[in-house]
Amino acid sequence: QALRSCSSAPCARPRAPAALSVRDALRARGASGERVKVQGWIRSARSQKEVLFLHVNDGSSLESLQVVADSSFDSRELAFGSSVEAQGQLVKSPSRGQNVELKAEKIEVIGNCDAKAFPIKYKERHPLEYLRQYPHLRCRTNALASILRVRSEATAAVHSFFKDSGFVHIHTPVITSNDCEGAGELFQVEPSSKTKVPKENFFNVPAFLTVSGQLHLEVMSGAFTRVFTIGPTFRAENSQSRRHLAEFYMVEAEISFVESLQDLMQVMEGLFKSTTMMVLSNCPKDVELCHKFIAPGHKDRLEHMLKNNFLTISYTEAVEILKQASENFTFTPEWGVDLQTEHEKYLVKHCGNIPVFVINYPLALKPFYMRDNEDGPHHTVAAVDLLVPGVGELIGGSLREERYHFLEQRLARSGLTEAYQWYLDLRRFGSVPHGGFGMGFERYLQCILGVDNIKDVIPFPRFTHSCLL
Ligand code: 4AD
Repeated sequence: QALRSCSSAPCARPRAPAALSVRDALRARGASGERVKVQGWIRSARSQKEVLFLHVNDGSSLESLQVVADSSFDSRELAFGSSVEAQGQLVKSPSRGQNVELKAEKIEVIGNCDAKAFPIKYKERHPLEYLRQYPHLRCRTNALASILRVRSEATAAVHSFFKDSGFVHIHTPVITSNDCEGAGELFQVEPSSKTKVPKENFFNVPAFLTVSGQLHLEVMSGAFTRVFTIGPTFRAENSQSRRHLAEFYMVEAEISFVESLQDLMQVMEGLFKSTTMMVLSNCPKDVELCHKFIAPGHKDRLEHMLKNNFLTISYTEAVEILKQASENFTFTPEWGVDLQTEHEKYLVKHCGNIPVFVINYPLALKPFYMRDNEDGPHHTVAAVDLLVPGVGELIGGSLREERYHFLEQRLARSGLTEAYQWYLDLRRFGSVPHGGFGMGFERYLQCILGVDNIKDVIPFPRFTHSCLL
């Protein structure tokens, strides 16, 4: 009733054109002649025979929409970097490489851009290192925008994979009182001095930013069988390397009634391959841009990873391979010592650049929760790391120690018995064999896109001596 009286009223205003994203405008293949409104930032401006050609991008796709304006428009403000709103008709474009363009009837500059001061220059392909200085502006470049769109698609693809495989998504806490990995690389959380609560007893116990959601996922796998999370994790590691961050995202899964590492490895390989296939099919142009301009040749390397079955070697075999290598390693490979990045790199190369699972690590190297293999003098646990080309360790996982007495002894040896009574409870009340893993999400993006530095695949990187913005 309300609608009818409104549209029939004599004062009804002409209908404002529908707002379209650049992506949707470009998809209007038939160029219906529809009047539309598009908002975005000018990526290029060029005039030719009194006609002005603008390319407007709003981040919805890699491609920009060509907006064509005649000489009645004042071109002075329509410059690179300015934000604009253009209204007009979507028409078939005579230009090569695009189906549609917007024949402008009205263009409004929303915000000017001072091109001289703007650190991003017209037509320049800035190196990623340069752009890192401008975390608030670098997302306006094609390279960063493509990487971040891939990141968004990959997040959705991870959710899709787990949903289709019958997993329940769990929000694990960011603030926690445990140090899952036991490595002490924790950021402590305290209220600021301005809060009314005394900082010593806000939580009554020392509280930290989580290093892993694993222990909380183990709780949930005791009720939902198959669970996963994808969330921020924090490590106070003193590392400036191209694969370490102080804040990174981890994709973690925990599965009950799993009895072998092979079952876990199948899920890991499935996660890697199906997430990647989904990303490739949902944002092919963004991936192509990375493979073409950031990491030439990476397309073939990725295809090689996708089409081959991942390999498996034991930690003991890995050490043997390294010992026999004619490589001059900085760290001498030795049984009982952790694999270094240089070792991981060599192993992947040795395996023909196919991702490789390294299993059964020395018990002494791994945290208290990993399942004891009870295997004699070379005492190992059922741990698995997935090593991939260019990155090294991408996923870390294990079977968990589900046997009450084994776990009790391991906790006692680490002096953790009191703090982990609740964790022991999980083994007292309906314990099941189970296991899980965590994949570094930024390392995954590095691996599929070929981006060398982890700081370029996260919107706002945090690392030692740097917390810009
Ligand atoms: O091997 P990690 O330490 O395993 C865990 O935290 C387990 N609790 C996970 C689980 O089983 N649910 O870390 C898992 C992965 C690594 O393989 C690596 O890809 C990534 O997290 N990672 C980092 N990524 C960026 N910066 C760092 N400082 C990272 N530390 C680990």
